[in-house]
Amino acid sequence: MANVGSERSQSLWMSDGLSIAAGHLGTDASCDVVIVGAGIAGLSCAHELTRLGRSVIVIDRGPIGWGMTLRTTAHLASALDDYYSELIKVHGEGQARLYHDSQVAAINRIEAICEDIEADFARVDGFLFPAKPSHISTLEKEFDACSKIGVDVDWYECAPLPGADTGRCLRFPRQARFHPGKYLAGLAAQIVREGGRLYSDTAYIEHETNGGAVTVQTEGGHCIRAQTAIFATNSPVNDRVAIHTKQTPNRTYVVAGPVPKGSVVDALYWDTLEAYHYVRLQPLDDRSDMLIVGGEDHRSGEAHDMDDRLAALGDWTRQHFPSFGGVEHRWSGQVLEPIDFMPFSGRNPGDSNIYVHTGDSGQGITNGVAGALTIVPLILGQDARFADLFDPSRKPLGGPALGEFAKGQVGVISNIAEHLGPSEVSSVDEIAPGEGAILRDGSIGKLAIYRSEQGELIRRSAICTHIGCVVHWNTLEKCWDCPCHGSQFAPDGQVLNGPAISPLPVQGKRQND
Ligand SMILES: Cc1cc2nc3c(=O)[nH]c(=O)nc-3n(C[C@H](O)[C@H](O)[C@H](O)COP(=O)(O)OP(=O)(O)OC[C@H]3O[C@@H](n4cnc5c(N)ncnc54)[C@H](O)[C@@H]3O)c2cc1C
Ligand code: FES
Repeated sequence: MANVGSERSQSLWMSDGLSIAAGHLGTDASCDVVIVGAGIAGLSCAHELTRLGRSVIVIDRGPIGWGMTLRTTAHLASALDDYYSELIKVHGEGQARLYHDSQVAAINRIEAICEDIEADFARVDGFLFPAKPSHISTLEKEFDACSKIGVDVDWYECAPLPGADTGRCLRFPRQARFHPGKYLAGLAAQIVREGGRLYSDTAYIEHETNGGAVTVQTEGGHCIRAQTAIFATNSPVNDRVAIHTKQTPNRTYVVAGPVPKGSVVDALYWDTLEAYHYVRLQPLDDRSDMLIVGGEDHRSGEAHDMDDRLAALGDWTRQHFPSFGGVEHRWSGQVLEPIDFMPFSGRNPGDSNIYVHTGDSGQGITNGVAGALTIVPLILGQDARFADLFDPSRKPLGGPALGEFAKGQVGVISNIAEHLGPSEVSSVDEIAPGEGAILRDGSIGKLAIYRSEQGELIRRSAICTHIGCVVHWNTLEKCWDCPCHGSQFAPDGQVLNGPAISPLPVQGKRQND
């Protein structure tokens, strides 16, 4: 069974070969809390619960830890990529202050856990610099907003980018970075030591609640009975609509390559573009560090020029960091952008013993940990400081949030129109080996057709099994992306990422193929 870890591009962290021992669930089981999804959110919940003596089972459709968390760049930031000036407009100063506290709490928690786990954790400064001189007003607004809510920030003459004079920038002290693979491996080892059970290759397909209990059914035909379930599958698989209308999926791209040690200051860097660049270092050896640069985002499924985007990232990196030794790793991943800038983390709408975490945006590592610091006290009946803030049942508030909501819905509506639109190719002959395309078949509708490197044609329905949008071919990752809510499917139709649970159905050969 697979997940996004088996998409074609491999991150820097994947190349280090994360391997967490876990087999698939081969029998029925029971526990206090069943957690679906073994990324930063699911494993952080499991870690907090097992150390408090709860019996926990974690299942994942793929290898443990090989979800979006292994495609991250792992900036641990209490600075906000969507800007506190925007957050205040939507939620007010009090809630914005509380959100900042949640990110500080998450970084502090990771730092404390890293006393027992060697995961290259380090406190560093974060620099927000203007991509263009005219963007200085964005920084001024952000400085004012941060000052109002007590975020520690100061002006700096220039960000320490060796190849660019950025002009004035903002410095956020006490940000951090770590190695996500080493961190997840350490968490998993502690969970198992405390009696937690981890099962890889074990996909959730459905659940039912009965009184105070929940039963989770796996694709392998086994069930897990528990008092409580947590869904931490990046994009929720337990919910068909409610949360999915409040977030949109975006692809983002990363390149990484070596720089001589000392040639780049160990810090986090962001510019002010809408698809902003995000930069950090990862220590490599005595002589070099790895420079990691991300950006070039777009709505999932809406671009085919991935190679150009990665090339642009490489060019930008060489220009801003002249000591960059060239691209050694390139990858992409998906982030879910909540319309009001904050994650959804807490009781699942309408349920008393089902919890959900999603809506990470570019802060998914800190949000995943803040989510665990919210969900676990809620389960234990304790005060959860961020529970109202992250409430998955919250309605989109006014202003910018409604604008974001409308933008997200335009994507869904235009996708619905695609059902009636033309084919991308008029014949399968136009599909090159290793590529996929959408072909309209009069009687059946739209087909997602992939031609393997050996020339074999694989025909699947192009209709996403979540709620029916048309999937798009991703030529970089060699997968089918659903632009509506983030599902991803392998070339043979099997699910790689939720919210879809079922594969794209097999479709037969057309008469004129
Ligand atoms: C390129 C990139 C850069 C990023 N940079 C940053 C950054 O600098 N800082 C930051 O804070 N965040 C960043 N993020 C965001 C952050 O990495 C993610 O939001 C976060 O890792 C998501 O964690 P998760 O636990 O929610 O999901 P995942 O890690 O995806 O875990 C979910 C798990 O659920 C499993 N699953 C799915 N469906 C099922 C099912 N039916 N049954 C069983 N299991 C299932 C999956 O296999 C997966 O392993 C970045 C993301 C990307 C892609
Ligand atoms: S992910 Fe919702 S329709 Fe595809």
